Amino acid sequence: MLDKILRDCQTEWIKTKTKKNHPFRYFTLSTVSPEGLPEARIVVLRHFDAANYQFKVYTDARTPKIAALEKNNKAELLFYDHRKLMQIRVQAECVEQQADALLFSQQHEGAQKDYTTAVPPGTPLKGMDQLDYTTENHFTVLTFKAQQIDYLRLKRPNHQRAVFTRTEELWNGSFVSP
Ligand SMILES: Cc1cc2nc3c(=O)[nH]c(=O)nc-3n(C[C@H](O)[C@H](O)[C@H](O)COP(=O)(O)O)c2cc1C
Repeated sequence: MLDKILRDCQTEWIKTKTKKNHPFRYFTLSTVSPEGLPEARIVVLRHFDAANYQFKVYTDARTPKIAALEKNNKAELLFYDHRKLMQIRVQAECVEQQADALLFSQQHEGAQKDYTTAVPPGTPLKGMDQLDYTTENHFTVLTFKAQQIDYLRLKRPNHQRAVFTRTEELWNGSFVSP
């Protein structure tokens, strides 16, 4: 049963590759700011590596989350499927921050533009249309490796909750009170 739960989680993350409206395609990425404050934001799950439980996200290298992760690489990835009332909290470490020129060149024009603003994300602007773009890009791929997975599914008559922790490459799961 525990094995099946973990496999089901994997299956759902894998599905985001082909099902663009899958609820796990967007998730909340939480980090700790250099000042020690919690920071959460929505990001897109770009790739899930089922063998290694790694999650990839694209971002601009100048965003505050980069500075946060450089100081503290711990993060929580929060997924929610409203149809199944299923929540998955993944404790993870950011194991790589990598510019990727080839991958950037494969993004469509509109998406490429997002990583080429003249000023870093979060910079005050005089107006919403006062944003310039350059030919330089700040496209970066973040890779998060899962360390713990906390699965919760609200169901009647019994809610289901299980926590899986990683030791080396092995996952050890147990049911916990919801
Ligand atoms: C639907 C949606 C999808 C988003 N996807 C991403 C994403 O994949 N990568 C990203 O860096 N920011 C994404 N954002 C913007 C972030 O939520 C956030 O505003 C931005 O990354 C700056 O975060 P930071 O200042 O905490 O670094 C998305 C926002 C929304 C509303």
